[in-house]
Parts: sequence; C-alpha cells; structure tokens
Amino acid sequence: MEKLENLPLKNDIETSNILKQLSKSSRALAELKGIAQTLPNQNVLINAIMINEAKTSSSIENIVTTYDEIYKAMVLKDNVSSAAKEVVDYRTAMWKGFNLVKRDNIITISTIVEIQENIEHNTAGIRSVPGTVIKNNQTNEIIYTPPQDKDEILFYLNNLVTYINEDCDTLDPLIKLAIIHYQFESIHPFYDGNGRTGRILNILYLVMAKLLDAPILYLSKYIIKNKMEYYELFQETRKTNNYENWIIYILKGIETTALETINIINKINDEMLKTKKELQDKTKIYSKELLESLYFDFYTKTNYIEDRLGISNRTALRYLNILEKNGILKSEKIGRERIYINEKLFNLIKQFEN
Ligand SMILES: Nc1ncnc2c1ncn2[C@@H]1O[C@H](COP(=O)(O)OP(=O)(O)OP(=O)(O)O)[C@@H](O)[C@H]1O
Ligand SMILES: [Mg+2]
Repeated sequence: MEKLENLPLKNDIETSNILKQLSKSSRALAELKGIAQTLPNQNVLINAIMINEAKTSSSIENIVTTYDEIYKAMVLKDNVSSAAKEVVDYRTAMWKGFNLVKRDNIITISTIVEIQENIEHNTAGIRSVPGTVIKNNQTNEIIYTPPQDKDEILFYLNNLVTYINEDCDTLDPLIKLAIIHYQFESIHPFYDGNGRTGRILNILYLVMAKLLDAPILYLSKYIIKNKMEYYELFQETRKTNNYENWIIYILKGIETTALETINIINKINDEMLKTKKELQDKTKIYSKELLESLYFDFYTKTNYIEDRLGISNRTALRYLNILEKNGILKSEKIGRERIYINEKLFNLIKQFEN
C-alpha cells in the first residue's frame, strides 16, 4: 500500500503552466457564473443540467439509460428500469448535497457519506473490511491499493474535509478543487461509488467556494471524453509526486465545460424567449410564473402548475390543454398520470449530451 500525502501539499504548486491555464479557466467560470445570474430564475436551469450530469456521470459506471426512460422513472415509482431510477436518484443526491452545503456552508464527512448512501442505496458507509483495490479492467492487475484500515481512512478524510473547509494554503480554489478530487479518489473511502461521490463533491466545493451560485458545472462529460488520460494521471501523479499535469487536466476540464455550459444556457434562454413570445401571441395565459414552470423541468403535471401558479386544478388543466393545442407541450399518459413534456427543452438537453 502506498502512503498518501497529507494536505496541504508541500509541493510548489503554482508553476507558470498551471497559472496560465488557471487564468483561462477562471475567466470561463466567472463568465458562466455571470450568465447564470442574469437568468430570471436559476432553478430553471438546474434541473435540466443536473439530469444531464446524472446520466453522464452514471454512464461512466456503465449505467446506461435513455432520456425517455429517465422521465418515465421520474413519474412512475414502479415498473421502471433500474438504470433510469439510478439516474433520477443521482439527481436527488445532488440536490440534497447542494441544499446541505448551501445551508451549512461546510462539507463534512457525514455530508459525503450521505451523498454516497443516496447513490448506492446502502448504508455500508466508510470501508471497514479490507480488500478494496483499483484494478485494470482488462488485465485484472492491481493498479492502486488505497488505505485499508478504517482509522487510517478516517484520518485522511478528516484531513481532507479540514482542507476543504479551511484556508490551509493560499492556492486558488480551482487548483484546490483538483487536489481535493485527486485526494478523495485516492482515499477511496467507500466500497463503491467513489467516482460518482467525488464528482458530486466537486460541484459542492465550487458552490461552497462561491465560484458558482448554482450547481451547474460538471466535469463528467469531459472525464468520459478523456477517460484514459484521467486514469493514467492518477498513477503518474502518484509515481512522480508532481501534480502539474493532473491539475492542468482538471483546469482544462473546467474551462471546456464552463464554455459548453454557457452555450447550453444561452440556448435554453433563447428557447424560453421563443416560448414566451408564442404564449403571448397565441394564448391569453402568459405569465412569468407559467413560463418558468414550463422550464423548471422537462415535463410538468397538472398539480405542479396548480402549485406554482396558485390556481385551481380545473384552471391548470385548461392551461395545459391550451399549451398542448398550441404545440408548446406534448402530453403522454404514463401509468395513471398524464405528463406534459416540453419537447424543446428535452431535445436541447439530449443534444447537449453529444
Ligand atoms: N489509479 C487511481 N487512483 C485513485 N483513484 C482512481 C484511480 N483510478 C480510478 N480512480 C477513481 O476511482 C473511481 C471509480 O471508483 P468506484 O468504482 O468506487 O466509483 P463509481 O462511482 O462506482 O465508478 P465510476 O467513477 O466509474 O462511475 C474513478 O471514477 C476514479 O475517480
Ligand atoms: Mg464502481
């Protein structure tokens, strides 16, 4: 078993290559934060972007599903594919983590354990039985053995959350994010779900560090696209104890993803404006609240409209009929419920995946 470093690192981290990339990544992220702030209602974006992330992040673990299955799983409790349910639960885990961090402004070991519990649906918690190793999938050869002893795992986790919550060094939060992700995966505190939990931890850290107000920047797609490099960099960093390439990899991911997310926000915003115009031109029921509830998630239901607009069930139903007649929503009966899909938003999110 290899020994893990304690945080903060003693290495000289701020090399000129890192600083060069850092300024690009910070700029892109600041732009994303700013654009998100101009939206009338940030919640509109979060669900759509989160479901995309839930799907992508889950598929690193080979949990493959389709968007059609996913929204069925959102509506139905039974009779849904377990893969789709995993994705929906993953989004719930992200929301929970986000709300915890927003409320407490701190990330604790129990926050992390709770996230993992929600993803894995078991209460096994932090590893207490030895045997978890990282293997090469093809050759089965052991690549890395994380700490095996529970006390040792807890020691490193405590060190990590202290590093997360306190200003132990003067590094930029984005550099810290890269170090935190490396360290968390290297501690590998759980039997399974370490990757997914670690990816959620990343976004919670960004929000806690006030680099974003809303949880809308996710590296999973970038990691999938650059998966070999991701895996290799863990080992390279461990072997050389030189974090430069790892940190640059993560910083580039932040830049790329921030720019992409800006793009999707702009597209959602454009669609919203078009829908607004359609509502105003073709119907008499336009209100800001109605428009926002159509973009709150990619489907809606009578009782959602009722609650968000504070109108009666009958009126909500009438609204939904009008919206469907005008091609703004498309309804479908799923189980005993009728759901109304915002196909434009749905298609945008699907597109974003590629
Ligand atoms: N050599 C390594 N050293 C440290 N961590 C690693 C190494 N190789 C992979 N990892 C991390 O381990 C994660 C996989 O661990 P685990 O199977 O517990 O998580 P998961 O969420 O189930 O899977 P996945 O991340 O593949 O979706 C990877 O996502 C990566 O972050
Ligand atoms: Mg796994």
